[in-house]
Amino acid sequence: MQKSAREVLEQAQNEGWAIGAFNAANIETLRAIVAAASKLRSPVIVESSSGETKFFGAENLVDVVKNFREELNLPIFINLDHSPSEEEIKVGLDAGYELLHFDGGKLPFEENVEKTKRIVEQAHAKGLLVEGEIDHIGGSSAPHLGESAESAQKSTTYTDPDKAAEFCKETGVDTFAAFFGNVHGVYKEPPKLDLERLKKIREKVDCFLSMHGGSGIKDEDVREAIKVGRIAKINVNTEMRVAFREALEHDLKKTDEVAIYKIMPPVIEAVQKVVEEKIKVFGSEGKA
Ligand code: 13P
Repeated sequence: MQKSAREVLEQAQNEGWAIGAFNAANIETLRAIVAAASKLRSPVIVESSSGETKFFGAENLVDVVKNFREELNLPIFINLDHSPSEEEIKVGLDAGYELLHFDGGKLPFEENVEKTKRIVEQAHAKGLLVEGEIDHIGGSSAPHLGESAESAQKSTTYTDPDKAAEFCKETGVDTFAAFFGNVHGVYKEPPKLDLERLKKIREKVDCFLSMHGGSGIKDEDVREAIKVGRIAKINVNTEMRVAFREALEHDLKKTDEVAIYKIMPPVIEAVQKVVEEKIKVFGSEGKA
């Protein structure tokens, strides 16, 4: 019997490692994630942002992930990442996503609680997990190499531990996205994490914690965050996007090949390498 997403998150939290949640918008990226998970016998979450979901198609993505899971007998799950509305959550819910992240961080607290609570009721009725947040993470999943991480941190609202505890208690979310200096994207230098704040969030919040912005953080800081915050899920996108683009540009310069299936293997390998490195840092190798 395959473990459920909840069982894997519980195991991760108890044993002090994290499951990687890797964004995918196309079959090549998905293949790279799955190949890394298979090689290292690691559980993984495949996830899609709003734009990525529209590009691939929610039902297509769910079907492909489930096909890989059965074919390889690996705990591979599918998460709807940063869903901005109840309408989009419904698309994920109907398509069969197993984890749903509702991003109500820009809403007034009470409205966020009300909507998240409603989503939790619908999702739990189907045995699905919900992730929520009360803040806004700065940056975007792209290279911002001319900018300092501090500039993205300035547009991040850092999580208040008491408010986070109140939100989790009132909504019943399974996972809480904590912001303590982590930002989307890669910058001139790695962001400095506020691990004291993370420690307080961990003490107050009684659900799984996720860390977004898994690209561009120093490996030792990631390990420390997993330890201090018992972080169970880490989201990664930018480093994979950059590897994809760089490998593709490099390949296209070398060849006039037009068969896509001949062009893409080195691109898949480049993205796979990023995913493998993350799996090793997150400590999920061999946990499948
Ligand atoms: P990065 O793009 O910084 O890896 O963050 C991804 C993420 O947090 C998706 O939710």
